[in-house]
Amino acid sequence: MSISFLAALLAYCEENISPFHTPGHKQGRGMALDFQRAWQQWGLKLDIDPPVLVGSEGATLPLALLAEAESKAAELFGGKATFFLTNGTTAGIQSMFLGAIKDRKVIIPRHIHYSVLGALILSGANPVILPPKAKNSELPDSRLTPEQVQQVLSSDSEIAGVFTQNPTYFGFADDLQDLIHIAHAAGIPVLVDEAHGPHFAFSSELPPTALSQGADLVAQSTHKLLTSLTGSSMLHLGGTLIDPEEISRYVEITQSTSPSFLLLASLESAVYQLAADGQGLVTQVLELAYDLRRQLAEVQGIKVYGSIEAQAEGYPYWDPTKVVIDFSPSGLGGVEALNILREEYKIQGEMADFSRVLLVLGPGDDRDSIACLKPILTDLVARYKRSPGRTTIPLPGYSSQQVLTPREAYFAPGVTLSLKESIGKVAAQLVAPYPPGIPILIPGEVITVEQIEYLKELACSGFQVTGLTEQAEIRVVK
Ligand SMILES: Cc1ncc(COP(=O)(O)O)c(C=O)c1O
Repeated sequence: MSISFLAALLAYCEENISPFHTPGHKQGRGMALDFQRAWQQWGLKLDIDPPVLVGSEGATLPLALLAEAESKAAELFGGKATFFLTNGTTAGIQSMFLGAIKDRKVIIPRHIHYSVLGALILSGANPVILPPKAKNSELPDSRLTPEQVQQVLSSDSEIAGVFTQNPTYFGFADDLQDLIHIAHAAGIPVLVDEAHGPHFAFSSELPPTALSQGADLVAQSTHKLLTSLTGSSMLHLGGTLIDPEEISRYVEITQSTSPSFLLLASLESAVYQLAADGQGLVTQVLELAYDLRRQLAEVQGIKVYGSIEAQAEGYPYWDPTKVVIDFSPSGLGGVEALNILREEYKIQGEMADFSRVLLVLGPGDDRDSIACLKPILTDLVARYKRSPGRTTIPLPGYSSQQVLTPREAYFAPGVTLSLKESIGKVAAQLVAPYPPGIPILIPGEVITVEQIEYLKELACSGFQVTGLTEQAEIRVVK
């Protein structure tokens, strides 16, 4: 193995070089004092934000040192090539659409993540948006059924690819094999947002990975469920339909030309950590998850989702490390419970919806970190429970009508209108509660009463909604 990227950075810091290069803070000396203090409080050395130049050869970018870690990642995750990303899975999804679809037609599910809209707008891709499989569910559903896809492909020869998200934010996962088989039979690639599944490759108890089922491009948020720094992700290439050179051209333009070396070094280290014992690392998280689930099964007034709920929604697989707690039996709202957990018990969950809170376990957890949850949830329910009585609010997206492409609508001259006035107009903005970031309005869609009622319900229940103006107005096409 050649010298690692991380070792090259550390060696540079130790050489005592006078830095007449960016970054301008010059090994921390010029950073705002507040930030210097915070940085030191986190136990980090100020000179660690690494410089552009490393090594005695002069102006060499040490990025070549990452090639070895990227090929190791491809081997570990089961792909042909892997690209490290410093702009999250968001950049991976942009690269996929730019590289494999461009401004052609692509099949996508209605319940996609916010970042997919950015990719559609940037690439100019024309989406054929298919409605969710489950009817009237509160849960986002990004499944595409093989039948739906077959039907579109039989009637439209211009489709250049199929995009889907698997698993869901809550960790429910579908079988992708038939879908991939149908797309490949038509000679088109399958692109997968696997943001929430980077750990799947390391345990047979987790859902099968998209790559193992034959997907062509797969983006994963390594930072979400493995151990690299926030914002660092990977894009994997599988199959034979996509030219790695073509994808690499787009990875290049969706990344900063000054990528964070900290993020890159953390990806490299995560890869070698996984190479050393990825299975051990992930098995340990799974064991903790099972233990926590056993404990929480004894708490009255909550329901923790598992295989029964996944199967009830028609998913063959689920991820035990995503601990979805439904508070409906105790009459509490999800956002309300999330806020109480934070304010009164110093527990920060990942996100909430109308009745559920998602807690995520990762390799940084251990028995001590999970020990507080059972007593806290028992106490919370005892103190706050009230009579249940909430009605289900299905996530919109079953009857959406797309009249412009997201790019056409986003770039079109717009005007802002109140929620009520916007009904019947064409959305020029994506509007979504964040997290989970599933758009309630997609640019180019005709705004319906159902969508506006849903947005009002979100506002009443305390959700943070992105895409509305400060006056809760919506930008529509003029
Ligand atoms: C389903 C899904 N896809 C894509 C993304 C974007 O990932 P990243 O934050 O790594 O850019 C997210 C982020 O939460 C997500 O939940």
